[in-house]
Amino acid sequence: MKLSILISASEAVPFAKSGGLADVIGSLPKYLKKMGHDVRVVIPRYYEIDKEQWGLRLLPGVLVIPMGILGEKYAAVYEGRMPDTDVPIYFIEHEGYYGRNGLYGEDNIAFPDNDQRFIFLSKATLELCKMINFKPDIVHANDWHTALIPFFMDTTYKNDSYAGKVASLLTIHNMEYQGNFRLSTMDIIDTGWEHFNFLEIEKHDWVNFLKAGVYHATILSTVSEGYAKEIQTPEYGWGLEGVLQERADDLYGILNGVDYSKWSPEADTLITSKYSVDDLSGKALCKKDIQRIAGLPERKEVPLIGMVGRLVKQKGIDIFAAALPKLLELDIQIVMLGEGEPWAHFYFGGMAAKHPQKFFCQIGYDNTLAHKIEAGADFFLMPSAFEPCGLNQMYSMRYGTLPIVRATGGLDDSVENFDEEKGTGTGFKFWDLTPGALFDTVGWAVYTWYNKKSAIKGLIKNAMNKRFTWEDAAKKYEQLYLKGVKYRREV
Ligand code: ADP
Ligand code: GLC
Repeated sequence: MKLSILISASEAVPFAKSGGLADVIGSLPKYLKKMGHDVRVVIPRYYEIDKEQWGLRLLPGVLVIPMGILGEKYAAVYEGRMPDTDVPIYFIEHEGYYGRNGLYGEDNIAFPDNDQRFIFLSKATLELCKMINFKPDIVHANDWHTALIPFFMDTTYKNDSYAGKVASLLTIHNMEYQGNFRLSTMDIIDTGWEHFNFLEIEKHDWVNFLKAGVYHATILSTVSEGYAKEIQTPEYGWGLEGVLQERADDLYGILNGVDYSKWSPEADTLITSKYSVDDLSGKALCKKDIQRIAGLPERKEVPLIGMVGRLVKQKGIDIFAAALPKLLELDIQIVMLGEGEPWAHFYFGGMAAKHPQKFFCQIGYDNTLAHKIEAGADFFLMPSAFEPCGLNQMYSMRYGTLPIVRATGGLDDSVENFDEEKGTGTGFKFWDLTPGALFDTVGWAVYTWYNKKSAIKGLIKNAMNKRFTWEDAAKKYEQLYLKGVKYRREV
């Protein structure tokens, strides 16, 4: 069955990205399209998205968005194409909401009108259907930013000729961010105060966008099977474990895929030398390259550990910070790239200045450097406190850069622990979220590197041959869409 699918999100590669959500929205639609579905994508037209660069076309007319007590507001819509495909992508433009630097905030502080910005996006997504005359079979919302879409589809848009009685899927990429706002937000949402109850949108007297989506979406998913189970527990549910347990029968886990056209050592145009599982000589050159960039001694034999990511607590940077002084006593090198919490910038920046022979840290966002680290490092460390899916460990495997991960969520699902006896595995895992467990496991990897060369060779081979394809993931999404459409017909 050919489906009409409308995907709404707050970011998409290559137009706007803060993390893995953008990678997913940049890839999934292409594969759905290849399967024959009519898929369309909606994101905001942030200030940084250059209309000329992407050849965007202004559609005739405007969207009129009812914003409750604020009255009506207007959106212009630009149409473009997802690169290398004919998948249409629609950009919602509103100068007041998106005509500024940053996606969600500036200097680590969230914009104070984020409630309005994403209520607007959610309503605009539904209004857009009329404008482009597109009647979806399913609307696919992602994270708290668009989690109100299923809620609006059940309320304000219940009898809408385009969005009414249509199935919805809400994919949760991260439980920590839920979109919590003051009560006054209810008057902008404008669906009536009867929805402000503990089942639907209220959480501890706050308006909670994600909860409304969890309650109202026809079907729910998250980005790994492990995380789908974890979020039903108090440790990982961030207070929504109860509502998620209620909906356990409709909650699925689908591991993200990797865009191997960008992230593989045979195809990567950003690294200094290409290589493959049959000929790793280029990897040695990539290691030399990253050592040169980082100003580290160009030693072939020393194990080099890479880290790339948001420097926030989710990523386990606090336990890494605590373990770092001891780690730097080992004969290793560490190259870190990331940005996030201010304390982390000071701490890691300071440690790099103190240990220039062993530790390099670049604060900021740098896609080219991220690729170079993936290719040039020997190990890749992800000590996450929680990780819904995680992409870097999957990229790392493809580059023969062995992941050292905390066994949680998608990290646990995608990395197979080294088994010394059988010689199987694709990386190294630890379970306790402690500096000690992190240190011991890095120690294990480093010991193996220095003393069991052939085991490392075997692991590299296993890791490089492992695949997490979007073809597989897209097939699973298709099944969920069909399930959603069927449920919706039955009620
Ligand atoms: P999350 O979405 O939680 O940040 P993921 O592992 O799913 O984590 O995805 C992170 C993505 O963002 C990866 O593609 C990674 O390479 C990229 N990334 C994160 N931080 C940086 C950075 N400082 N510079 C370049 N790329 C980064
Ligand atoms: C989130 C998660 C990350 C996941 C990404 C894409 O940002 O933190 O684990 O890979 O979404 O689904």
